Amino acid sequence: MVQAEREHWKTRAGFIAAAAGSAIGLGNIWRFPYIAGRYGGGAFVLVYILLLIFVGYPVMNSELLLGRKTQKNPVGAFKMLAPGKPWVIVGFMGVLAGFIILSYYSVVAGWALSYILKSGTYMAAGSDIGNIFVISISSTFGGIFWHTLFMLLTIGIVYGGIEKGIERWSKILMPVLLILLIILVIRSVTLPGAAEGLAFYLKPDFSKFSGEGFLAALGQVFFTLSLGMGCMITYGSYLKKNEDLPLNAKYVVGADTLVALLAGFVIFPAVFAFGLEPTTGPGLTFITLPAVFLQMGLAGHVFGSIFFILLTIAALTSAISLLEVVAAYFIDENKWNRKKATIVMGIAIWFLGIFPSLGYSTLSTVKVIGGRDILDSFDFFANNILLPLGGLLIAIFIGWFWGTDKALEEANQGANTKLSTSYSFLIKYVVPIAVFIVFLNSIGILR
Ligand code: PHE
Repeated sequence: MVQAEREHWKTRAGFIAAAAGSAIGLGNIWRFPYIAGRYGGGAFVLVYILLLIFVGYPVMNSELLLGRKTQKNPVGAFKMLAPGKPWVIVGFMGVLAGFIILSYYSVVAGWALSYILKSGTYMAAGSDIGNIFVISISSTFGGIFWHTLFMLLTIGIVYGGIEKGIERWSKILMPVLLILLIILVIRSVTLPGAAEGLAFYLKPDFSKFSGEGFLAALGQVFFTLSLGMGCMITYGSYLKKNEDLPLNAKYVVGADTLVALLAGFVIFPAVFAFGLEPTTGPGLTFITLPAVFLQMGLAGHVFGSIFFILLTIAALTSAISLLEVVAAYFIDENKWNRKKATIVMGIAIWFLGIFPSLGYSTLSTVKVIGGRDILDSFDFFANNILLPLGGLLIAIFIGWFWGTDKALEEANQGANTKLSTSYSFLIKYVVPIAVFIVFLNSIGILR
């Protein structure tokens, strides 16, 4: 059989838009601010940035170089570099994680999508905003409808392929995201009373920072950079050999960090300006923020819609990377064509997503892992188990099995920004130890 030639990113900007699009998602805008709020604002941010540099950046390089070296999906990559060895399981874990994460990610993204048009509803609800959120997520039909719509958008883009689907749409959507974000930052920091929020966000309060905050920061580094599940292996596999890989990794980590930090500049000043609490957890986005928009009056309709468009775009460019991991596996290993892989797997993931979606209505009595509802259980299994375990094994694979010398050779090929022995040190010692501690904690052994 004649193998079709592997697609490649057309331009560096296209790759960076796509990879940064994968990294920048609900994790940056929905998750980062409420975790930062919970663990002491500036203190958390400081530790988070250190972990990005010493753990996130080396693992980002590792995944990208494994992909570019093998020109394959995560399963194919490990098969090729360690034939006949159990390392291929790491690849399968990644494909499974992509499948599971996308199923509920699409449900939450569906809520964001529905909120674009809901500003009228939550505005009219007044102080009952919390209820509106509860009503909207516990509507059987509504939940599935928005989840379906979001999955259709995701499938539609991945169906178009690397250059004409993912790259093209990322290059359109990411600049829009940045512009919307800047509009919101300007609005938020110029609100009367914003200074208090800025102080909370920027002034480190180490009394609120704990070991738990450290673990949350490291977990966030993996999730926000799309690491530990072969997403960056897959995106790296479409990189040409003459691309400066470490430089690209720097841009992606930098863009992701910039957006997370800017999201904090939107949320904290606004929340403080209207006298609300910054530490309300996952509800910060869907309950607290609408309350902020409500108090802005008419302008709140506009800013509210802008915010939820931003959130939907961020989620969409991440969702396509999740579907691409699953699709690439079936395309490379089972020789499916792209159309079949995206449609069949898209439908399968959509179907799985019905369960977390119904977890707030028809299936609200179903509790899975440790009393968590279905969506939380999926999230726990993927983010607290599959991702850290995947990240740990990828670091061990490169550091102790395949060899950092080969990794350096691949990464530095065609690069002006060369990785050095400090990369080897981080991948062999620092990353495995740090991630192992997080992993023990997340499965409850350290508590
Ligand atoms: N990085 C994405 C976010 O921050 C989530 C994600 C995780 C996407 C893993 C792909 C792979 O929302």
